[in-house]
Amino acid sequence: MSIGIIGSGNIGSAFARALSRNGISATISNSRGPESLKDLVADLGPGIVAGTREEAASAEMVLVAVSWSKLPQALAGLPDWRGRIVLDANNPIEQPDFKLAELGGRLSSEVFTDLVPGARVVKAFNHLTPALLAGDPASEGGRRVLFYSGDDAPAKKNVATLMDRLGFFGIDLGPLSVGGRLVQFPGGPLPALNLVRFG
Ligand SMILES: NC(=O)c1ccc[n+]([C@@H]2O[C@H](COP(=O)([O-])OP(=O)(O)OC[C@H]3O[C@@H](n4cnc5c(N)ncnc54)[C@H](OP(=O)(O)O)[C@@H]3O)[C@@H](O)[C@H]2O)c1
Repeated sequence: MSIGIIGSGNIGSAFARALSRNGISATISNSRGPESLKDLVADLGPGIVAGTREEAASAEMVLVAVSWSKLPQALAGLPDWRGRIVLDANNPIEQPDFKLAELGGRLSSEVFTDLVPGARVVKAFNHLTPALLAGDPASEGGRRVLFYSGDDAPAKKNVATLMDRLGFFGIDLGPLSVGGRLVQFPGGPLPALNLVRFG
């Protein structure tokens, strides 16, 4: 399954590093174009190439990790998602004040889903710090836990398979309406917990 990444900052890069370490290739993009990513991709490891936002978005599975207020712009004008899988790694807060964005009483994943019409959205890769996401999932023994949630079972199965290949222990939190709430930051009980599955 081809993988694209929109957002080459802390989380997009951490995800790319984890992929590269496990021999999985991906196209990573930002707002400034592939030229600006030359040094970064060299550092991220083999298999990670720089592309345009459109190239990254055309992959079968696309991780989006962009500052909350920039998401509408980052996702605007892309072709219909046509059932491709989009991983929502975003949180509705921004530095420096970490103030919760106005969500109109909805979950951030519900707001996000409206920005990717036709996509099968899976909330994932948003609950750990970038260092833990990029690091060895077995560094403390066992397998570091990642969560995923969504409303499309086959899409979630693909995400579970990817997490497994990366060495993580994936836990299905159910539909977006349930899992999205549990991993939402701030507010949910799970963000930033470095949990490890033993046995
Ligand atoms: N940092 C964490 O600890 C953490 C943990 C979990 C989840 N998250 C969430 O993950 C998301 C990303 O966080 P981050 O820390 O990785 O942010 P970041 O380091 O500031 O990176 C943001 C990325 O978004 C890109 N971007 C902005 N506008 C864009 C556009 N129009 N088109 C394409 N790309 C665009 C930026 O590209 P340019 O550099 O070219 O502008 C940059 O690569 C946020 O929603 C955050 O809440 C963060």
